[in-house]
Amino acid sequence: MIDLQLTDKTHDEERQGEALVIDAPLVRNGRKLYIESYGCQMNFADSEIVASILLDQGFETTGDYKEADVVFINTCSIRENAEQRVRNRLSQFGAEKRRNPKLIVGVLGCMAERLKSKFLEEEKLVDVVVGPDAYRELPQLLSEVESGHKAINVLLSREETYADISPVRLNGNGITAFISIMRGCDNMCSFCVVPFTRGRERSRDPYSILAEAQDLFDRGYKEVTLLGQNVDSYKWKGADANEDAEIEVNFAQLLEKVALISPDLRIRFSTSHPKDITDEVLHTIAKYDNICNYIHLPVQSGSTRVLELMNRTYTREWYINRVDAIRRIIPGCAISSDIIAGFCTETEEEHQETLSIMDYVGYDFAFTFSYSERPGTLAARKYADDIPEEVKKRRLAEILLKQQQTSLFRLQQFVGKTVRILVEGTSKKSDKDFCGRNDQNAMVVFPATEGVKAGQYVNVHVDRCTSATLLGTVVN
Ligand code: SAH
Ligand code: SF4
Ligand code: F3S
Repeated sequence: MIDLQLTDKTHDEERQGEALVIDAPLVRNGRKLYIESYGCQMNFADSEIVASILLDQGFETTGDYKEADVVFINTCSIRENAEQRVRNRLSQFGAEKRRNPKLIVGVLGCMAERLKSKFLEEEKLVDVVVGPDAYRELPQLLSEVESGHKAINVLLSREETYADISPVRLNGNGITAFISIMRGCDNMCSFCVVPFTRGRERSRDPYSILAEAQDLFDRGYKEVTLLGQNVDSYKWKGADANEDAEIEVNFAQLLEKVALISPDLRIRFSTSHPKDITDEVLHTIAKYDNICNYIHLPVQSGSTRVLELMNRTYTREWYINRVDAIRRIIPGCAISSDIIAGFCTETEEEHQETLSIMDYVGYDFAFTFSYSERPGTLAARKYADDIPEEVKKRRLAEILLKQQQTSLFRLQQFVGKTVRILVEGTSKKSDKDFCGRNDQNAMVVFPATEGVKAGQYVNVHVDRCTSATLLGTVVN
């Protein structure tokens, strides 16, 4: 995987195993949970639900799997290399299990759902396999394992949203947090495994979303990112707050309700689907200063024929029309994308169309992937994965190069200007520097300045930039 923004946490993006820990001063049972997550932000959000369920059982979390009683790996199936990474990691856990036979190893998430009981056959060290809609069953499943059986629950649900489970914020900075507003996906993009691993789309009730956002704000958080595979199709129907009428809430209305919590709470969201993003959503973003001017709008390909094979249900022209609407309604809005190189039967001309749509939009960032056939998907069943690996690689490199140039160009537009940022904490590279994002989601790094601390909004004069970061100094 080539990834321009490996550290960017706001994208629905494949992340590489990170252990999640918290300090939890509740009644403990003396047992320790180690949980490591891969894949998109929704998976990371799910790990916080899982941790919440087990903390209720008296577990505490640890950042070192060697001292854990239970090791969970929350997995991703999106591309073959994502699954390979998980298998490599499992063999390390296997070595630990040989040393400590009492250790329970569990596989959660999308790979668990995709492979089901095959996992137990293929990976002998795995004790428990749990799909994304079955986390409430974890305590029972762990008891089964303790009584000497392997345990599995991979049932998908049409209703489960874990709305009533308050996620524990693992490894957070205390400033930015993610809120799942829906689960599953009803689109059938032909390349994509998500509808199979996550099941049908369902929207979480707006009251619990608002309560979670309010609670985060009350605890000092300053930014929430609303998560879903296709946030624009958020739709909830039910009783109004007084329970005397039936109401319907769409994504634009939900955004507005969250934005009204406080002007000091920033709102982000991901992912927008080009077929569903409405002008109403764009006007809502434009209306509220605290809804960030940044849209992740994956194009996948610039060719209408390839988009049709991908079953994305929009054309190049439709996509361009949506980008024009964004530029008209929210001038200065940043746009990012996901792009797949070398999808089945993609010709050289069609690849050029992807490059030319990148020129047209001028993406602020893009995640770029080489097509990876996933078993069971529509594309795997219908089309041959016929683009040779070296052609995919070369096309991907061309896309990546163009994106690096465009990202640099976009960031250069901020040089010499003053941007308002939310300070997230010290920068990854040096604790003498602070970092935070501007409205358009560009990462800004500046020398730690007296009186400035995480959670504050500050103005930073941008002195220079790289293709990924703005560098500046705090101004009053
Ligand atoms: N729901 C989001 C995407 C989730 S998956 C959306 O519709 O945009 C994140 C990205 O992974 C996708 O946008 C796509 O670019 C990429 N991806 C998904 N399946 C893939 C595959 N089989 N091969 C390569 N890239 C893939
Ligand atoms: Fe996959 Fe398409 Fe659903 Fe995104 S919208 S999760 S790419 S099927
Ligand atoms: Fe996310 Fe990977 Fe599953 S991208 S939905 S964790 S397949």
